[in-house]
Amino acid sequence: MLSHNGGISLVFWGKQAYHIILYGLTTILFTENPKAIIMRLMKKLGVNVDHIATLREQRKEGNPSLVDATKLAIDSGADIITIHLREDRRHIQDADLWDLIKFVPVLNLEMAATEEMIGIAIDAKPTMVCLVPEKREELTTEGGLDLISHRELIGDATKRLQAEGIQVSLFIDAEDEVVDAAKAIGADIIELHTGSYARARVGSPEQDTELARIQTATQRGVVAGLQVNAGHGLRQDNVGRIAGISEVSDLHIGHSLVADALFVGLGDAIRQMKALI
Ligand code: PXP
Repeated sequence: MLSHNGGISLVFWGKQAYHIILYGLTTILFTENPKAIIMRLMKKLGVNVDHIATLREQRKEGNPSLVDATKLAIDSGADIITIHLREDRRHIQDADLWDLIKFVPVLNLEMAATEEMIGIAIDAKPTMVCLVPEKREELTTEGGLDLISHRELIGDATKRLQAEGIQVSLFIDAEDEVVDAAKAIGADIIELHTGSYARARVGSPEQDTELARIQTATQRGVVAGLQVNAGHGLRQDNVGRIAGISEVSDLHIGHSLVADALFVGLGDAIRQMKALI
């Protein structure tokens, strides 16, 4: 604001800026763990585009275009794009992986720890692989990996993928012994399954209990030096309390974004979710 008293205005705004910076520094130093603030600022949204492929596979005629939808997701603020290449290829196809790997800056490939999938991941080299349990008859990934019974199998897959420069995330339930097993296996990241939290009514005691489990497992993971992500069943009405866990890094969300897109469009669905996390 430059006027006859332009000099005074500049001093005024200079003082405002000084106060804002001072307030920020005081907040960081005295009221919150600086690492927690940085983690919150760095929280990323992983957009799972499987259900755009689900719709396409209803007709198998290439419509809607997964490539166009993924580009729109990135332009709308998706930090990570996630696809789950299932054994039965019910939504994502092998060709989708090869199409997306060409232009997606950070691609997260969800897959079962099978020989077939490990081979595909090693060929395609996504940024990261999230190992998930997979059952043919399930509608979606029902639970976390059983790292106690399948420790050797998952440990072997983890090492082979890491040897190719692929980060490995393990999708697990929020339980202490499973977090410890993920650390012992040598995972880079754990993704905590938020399905039970998401199924509980918003604000109910059950949701409080599930949230507490996720908070405890997050702390345990972070103390062990793991990056902790979360996902499954997250929607606009329940994402806030998970996003409020400052140590959680990335949130992976798919179904609700595609459902919201019916009403507001994919771009706004992603922008609205980003604003909430
Ligand atoms: N994270 C993992 C590991 C998943 O398997 C899924 C479902 O594909 C999600 C996140 C996303 O879950 P939703 O589609 O319910 O948002």
